[in-house]
Amino acid sequence: MLPGCLLLTGLLRSASTASSAPRMPKNMGSWDKFTSSSCYSHSNNASSKARLTAKEQLDPLALIKDEVSEVTDRLRSMVVAEVPELTSAAGYFFSAGAEGKRTCPTVLLLMASAISMKISDGLENRSRARHMRVAEITEMIHISSLIHDDVLDDADTRRGMDSLNFTVGKKLAVLAGDFLLFRAFSAAVSLDNTEVVSLLATAVNNLVTGELMQMSITPAQRCSMDYYLQKTYYKTAALISNSCKAIAVITGQTAEIQALAYQHNSFTRQSLLV
Ligand SMILES: *[C@@H]1O[C@H](CO)[C@@H](O)[C@H](O)[C@H]1NC(C)=O
Ligand SMILES: *[C@@H]1O[C@H](CO)[C@@H](O)[C@H](O)[C@H]1NC(C)=O
Ligand SMILES: *[C@@H]1O[C@H](CO)[C@@H](O)[C@H](O)[C@H]1NC(C)=O
Repeated sequence: MLPGCLLLTGLLRSASTASSAPRMPKNMGSWDKFTSSSCYSHSNNASSKARLTAKEQLDPLALIKDEVSEVTDRLRSMVVAEVPELTSAAGYFFSAGAEGKRTCPTVLLLMASAISMKISDGLENRSRARHMRVAEITEMIHISSLIHDDVLDDADTRRGMDSLNFTVGKKLAVLAGDFLLFRAFSAAVSLDNTEVVSLLATAVNNLVTGELMQMSITPAQRCSMDYYLQKTYYKTAALISNSCKAIAVITGQTAEIQALAYQHNSFTRQSLLV
C-alpha cells in the first residue's frame, strides 16, 4: 500500500486524465515535488515521528487514525439536543460500535494531508483543525441522509443494526435527520467561509435531487445508464466531491487544485461502478 499522500496523488492523477478534467500542470515534475514536499505526518513531534514503524509508514490510514477517532469523539458531543429523545435518536449512528467505516472523515483527512502546504506550524495547525471540522460536518450530513433514506425506503436495517425508523418510528427519525443537518450547517457557518457553506449546500441539494430522481424514475429512465450514473453520483459521490473541494478551499489552494480535489472522486465513482 502507498502512503496516504501518494495514494491520493495517484487518485488525483487518475482524475486528471479523465476526459472532462482540466489538464494537469504542464510541468509534471513540479507537481511531484509539490505533493511529496507537502506530504508529511501531522505530528510536530520528531521523536514520535521517527518511532513510526515501517508498516505504519506504508499505511495511509495509520497517518490519520488518531484524528479520525478524535472526529468520532467530537461528533458524539456535537449531536446533543435539548430533548433527550432527540439526542439519543440523532446520536444513534455515532455511538460506539455503530460508527460504520467512517469513510467520509478518512477520505477527507487523507485529502487534507495530500494537499496541505506546511507554510508555518501555526498556520498549518489552524487549517488542520478546520479540516477536521469539515470531516465532522460531512459525516453529519452523510448520516442525516442515511437516516432519511431509510425512512423513504422503509428499510429495517442499517450497518447491521435496526434502522432508526425501525427503532424510534419515522417521525422521530425524520426529525433526527433534520437536527443533524442543522448541526452540520451551524458548524459550517462557524468556519466563516461562505464558499465552503455553499459547497456543502450544493452537496445537500444533490442528495435530495438524487433521491427524487430515484423516486420518480420512469421505465425509459430505468434503462438509461446516464440517468443511473447521474442519480448515483448525486446520491453517493457528490457529498465527498464537494467536501474534498471545501478542504482545498480552506487550505487556500489554487482553483486548479480545488478542481482536482473535487474530481478525484469521479475516479472513486467509476471504480465503484466497475
Ligand atoms: C514526543 O513524543 C515522545 C514519545 O511519545 C514523548 O516522550 C515526548 O515528550 C514528546 N515530545 C514533545 C515535545 O511533545
Ligand atoms: C494545534 O496545536 C495545539 C498546541 O500546540 C494543540 O493543542 C492542538 O491539538 C493542535 N491541533 C491540531 C488539530 O493539530
Ligand atoms: C417506520 O416507522 C413506522 C412508524 O413511524 C412504522 O410503521 C414502520 O413499520 C417503520 N418501518 C420499518 C421498516 O421499521
